[in-house]
Amino acid sequence: MNKGILITFEGGEGCGKSTQLKLLYDYLKKKGRRVYLTREPGGTQIGDEIRQILLNKKHNRMTPVTETLLYMASRSQIVEEVIKPRLKKGYVVLCDRWLDATVAYQGYGAGADIAWINSLGRITTGGIEPKRTLFFDLPVEIGLRRAKSHKSADRMERKKLLFHRKVCAGYRAIAKKESGRIIRVPVTPSDTVSEVHARVLRAVSPLI
Ligand SMILES: Nc1ncnc2c1ncn2[C@@H]1O[C@H](COP(=O)(O)OP(=O)(O)O)[C@@H](O)[C@H]1O
Ligand SMILES: [Mg+2]
Repeated sequence: MNKGILITFEGGEGCGKSTQLKLLYDYLKKKGRRVYLTREPGGTQIGDEIRQILLNKKHNRMTPVTETLLYMASRSQIVEEVIKPRLKKGYVVLCDRWLDATVAYQGYGAGADIAWINSLGRITTGGIEPKRTLFFDLPVEIGLRRAKSHKSADRMERKKLLFHRKVCAGYRAIAKKESGRIIRVPVTPSDTVSEVHARVLRAVSPLI
């Protein structure tokens, strides 16, 4: 039914998702592909308002269940409003984070029930699955340093190093379990942006 393909980028703070998505977007545009770049949470008006709640530094007592529900609400909106219509039209849709991020952050990181997150996720994503997911595996400390260097740390980025280690371990576990969909892209601190871009192209070129 869907002619388009959904590709998602995952990984911890500062691992290079936004940088690499922009490069892949530009590459596909130049090739003449119909391509759409969006992010989670956000990507719709409702989603952007939910994003403001989620990233607000004042909300330092939000429970993992509340967080999960807010992410899922934003996701449901972007799936119906943005992603499904574009997949139907044959677009390559590039999304900065997806359900895997909720499993990694709210599940593995913050301790919300993973089976519950996944069952909620099946409804929220409306039957849409990423064709390919790239998980950028950069050492946690390096990513956090990079994420903080260019903007004031938001609520998520301020959480402790230990939390981010659990998130990273979570991503690795998900990548192992879903090795058919997820490609783990190991990134060392000295790998340049263009080196990582070359790896991204190798990973997605069989699809596009
Ligand atoms: N390979 C790289 N080497 C050095 N710096 C990088 C590399 N990739 C990204 N950066 C920088 O690290 C910071 C975080 O990258 P970003 O793409 O915003 O990560 P994310 O979206 O995963 O949080 C940015 O300032 C970016 O310019
Ligand atoms: Mg980003």
